[in-house]
Amino acid sequence: MTTNMTIDRDADQTSRPSDASRPTFSHLGLSTQCVHSGEQRQKPEGAITQPIFTASTYTFASTADLLRFVEGEEQREEYGRYGSPNEKSVEAKLAALDGAEDAILYSSGMAAIVGLLMTKLQSGDEIVFFDQCYHRSREFCSKHLARFGVVTHQVPTGDFAAMEASINDRTKLIVSESPTNPHLTSVDLEKFVAIGKANEVETLIDATLATPYNLRPIDYGVDYVWHSATKYLGGHNDLLAGSIAGSRELLDPVRKLRGVLGSVNSGHNLYLLERGLKTFELRMERHNKNGLAIAEFLEAHPRVGRVYYPGLKSHPSHEIAAAQMRGFGGLITFTVKDADWKETSRVVDAAQIARIAPSLGGVESLIEQPLVMSYYHCSPEERKQFGIDDNMIRFSCGIENTDDLIADLKQALEA
Ligand SMILES: Cc1ncc(COP(=O)(O)O)c(C=O)c1O
Repeated sequence: MTTNMTIDRDADQTSRPSDASRPTFSHLGLSTQCVHSGEQRQKPEGAITQPIFTASTYTFASTADLLRFVEGEEQREEYGRYGSPNEKSVEAKLAALDGAEDAILYSSGMAAIVGLLMTKLQSGDEIVFFDQCYHRSREFCSKHLARFGVVTHQVPTGDFAAMEASINDRTKLIVSESPTNPHLTSVDLEKFVAIGKANEVETLIDATLATPYNLRPIDYGVDYVWHSATKYLGGHNDLLAGSIAGSRELLDPVRKLRGVLGSVNSGHNLYLLERGLKTFELRMERHNKNGLAIAEFLEAHPRVGRVYYPGLKSHPSHEIAAAQMRGFGGLITFTVKDADWKETSRVVDAAQIARIAPSLGGVESLIEQPLVMSYYHCSPEERKQFGIDDNMIRFSCGIENTDDLIADLKQALEA
């Protein structure tokens, strides 16, 4: 055996050759992919499910064995911060679902965007956000990346002229969510990608609310697709995780930095995520059905003012949503007509099935009044700027029976 002691070990730890024992099934249906994609056909001991690996480190039988690994002759695990068998399986499944070459998992959605931005940006770089993006991601850039000399611009969501006007030679990335939270605004991905390409800046879409069932940003040429897997992908309100999907070339340095930052998942957490993903298509079918039926019910109810749901013709970006989404998801925002914040909170409190909690995308329906949840510590001026009304309610449909959820909302509105 020849040894090369100057080998770049970081490169080895992150290299991901295609693995024939992990078929993508990309030519087959979504549920077939959810169940089988990315998994090794033959798992340890013949187990049908992926065993949970708890190891923080992985042993070598001999120095010769170790040398085969460091010289790149053998792909295997080495240390938990660089990956695990559970992680490889779920990352390959997520890449298949997003139609991407690769996906990297993190310990939360926020850890994922932080990992990506820390890899791609340096002092003097600029980044442009549509302003309805998840507020913690904008906060990370404007408050924290600013300390390292990165400049963040925020422009009104969907205003492509303003986005293009904010791009200059230092701009590295443009960012949008689609649909957005809580206003459910869809962003035209063809225009978004065209601006990125024309200006030679990379593009990132937070597709957490859409999920790979309803939207496939990679097919439009988006560079990075970001998911909070805490939501629909995990789907059971029992885990936190996040992912970034994209090309192997773009993600390779991101994976390397994650090995340094260490925001990885335990084998237990990954097992839950993998198990949740098996039923992803089935759950999304019910989330979409519940979302549309409840949005239509709310729009027709006399106590309801405005309803924000991408599947309703009344939504200002409905045409974009209808053109690029397969379904419209389970999140609905509505206002209680002529109600103050207290009357609105009485509707929330009267719901008997949905639970009062932040988050979305799980099997349990959740209800919240943004004023007293995520936006409680904002000033009235900030709430006005973010479009948060005192009488607004956000409803995340679970997978309960449609008629039960509608009957419960009806009694809550009429209580
Ligand atoms: C649209 C969206 N993106 C990203 C995140 C961040 O994900 P996580 O909570 O998993 O860090 C959230 C969390 O609420 C979200 O709603």
